[in-house]
Amino acid sequence: MSSSFLSREANEEYAQCLREVVDKLLVLLSLGLGLEGNVMREAFGRDDLEYLLKINYYPPCPRPDLALGVAPHTDMSALTILVPNEVPGLQVFKDDHWFDAKYIPNALIIHIGDQVETLSNGKYKSVYHRAIVNKDRVRISWPVFCSPPPDMVVGPLPQLVNEENPAKYKTKKYKDYEYCKLNKLPQ
Ligand code: OGA
Ligand code: NI
Repeated sequence: MSSSFLSREANEEYAQCLREVVDKLLVLLSLGLGLEGNVMREAFGRDDLEYLLKINYYPPCPRPDLALGVAPHTDMSALTILVPNEVPGLQVFKDDHWFDAKYIPNALIIHIGDQVETLSNGKYKSVYHRAIVNKDRVRISWPVFCSPPPDMVVGPLPQLVNEENPAKYKTKKYKDYEYCKLNKLPQ
């Protein structure tokens, strides 16, 4: 890893670039629901959206068949922007099967997280995924979790809820959602 990745300037620049990507994605996701472009971004706190970088380090494992890097889960964020190294491992669950996420150099992997599922009242589904380990190569991934601020109240958008489409999710503060998720409590 080059030391420039660790520099404060590099992180600030990366965050700035990610903000533009996330803003665009939220506009497209809003339009996809037939809403004004700014609706989702507003509902997630506008300029107060929080960005959290995590670095996953998966050492080589002699028996990848017996170990998991990350157990299956959905991300509790609104969106996750993930950059992996070239060692495959991320898998996505669809139609009863685990699929490898194809590694495309310089591409960003975008996860829909739980908060987008909630806001869209289930029209968008948060992606169920896991990470497997490699027999002889180190795998690293750099996900950035983009979430509403802790006190932001998130629930199905009123525009999407009516008698035929009742709310499928509770409306609650993001920090309360996070607490329940981390402690495996019912939402
Ligand atoms: C995560 C995650 C997958 C990966 O950190 O939430 O799903 O590819 N990581 O490392
Ligand atoms: Ni994840």
